Amino acid sequence: MGSPVIGVFDSGFGGLTVLKALLEVIPNAEYLYFGDTARLPYGSKSVETVARYACEATRYLEQQGAELLVIACNTATALAFDQIKNTASVAVVGVIEPGAERAAVSSRSGKVVVIGTEATTCSHAYRHALAAREVEAHEKACPLLVPLVEEGWVNHPVTEEIARIYLNEAFSDGFRSADVLLLGCTHYPLLKPVLQRAAPAGVTLVDSAESTAMAVRELLSSTLAMATRAKKDQVKFFVTDSTDKFRRLGRLFLGQEILDIAHVDLKE
Ligand code: DGL
Repeated sequence: MGSPVIGVFDSGFGGLTVLKALLEVIPNAEYLYFGDTARLPYGSKSVETVARYACEATRYLEQQGAELLVIACNTATALAFDQIKNTASVAVVGVIEPGAERAAVSSRSGKVVVIGTEATTCSHAYRHALAAREVEAHEKACPLLVPLVEEGWVNHPVTEEIARIYLNEAFSDGFRSADVLLLGCTHYPLLKPVLQRAAPAGVTLVDSAESTAMAVRELLSSTLAMATRAKKDQVKFFVTDSTDKFRRLGRLFLGQEILDIAHVDLKE
């Protein structure tokens, strides 16, 4: 039996943190990664636009042979998960449910702070997922963090200060006793040390990228038990903007060289 082919979709670069987690926990799969770099960011767009873009990309991944789809983008999962599932004919895993599950299990106080894009926090997708697990959520949009990470300022005093301001606001009032910080955006795993320092002492960071990778492994457990080793060219990348820029910036997110990149022009 061959290795399963997993399609990973994101608005651009950030989903590479999810791909990185997937490669760590499921090394014997093959991957097709789609980054909609020409149309990012999704985090400031409407439900209609994000749903249309996400459905186009997931159809493309299926045409390329994806047997399971992972929606790595928190914004796309929050705004368009149902539409994507209705469009797809293969199983679809998003980042919200696995992230919420991990956060709920990790919290003793029953109070969690969730940070993400404007669109993700306004959708209240995380709040609903946590409420279903009897956990209260305070959702805080941190729109400056995505451009700071894409600037490569993951270890910069400006980022440190901004993170501190955001988290001071988030862990206030009824949420002073929150004991989990749920990273509800693809870019935030790169800021883990900064966010850990900026959060109150004793707060546990939950990374939705890692939780999603574990959920996918569980879903595929019987297939993976029989899967052969993945080929050498294990990941194929498709992007809608410059392949050069993706190669350069993508390395920061994936932590390794990105080789096999094709440019894709999705017809509207
Ligand atoms: N991938 C997006 C997310 O996880 C962040 C970048 C964007 O806004 O497109 O919400």
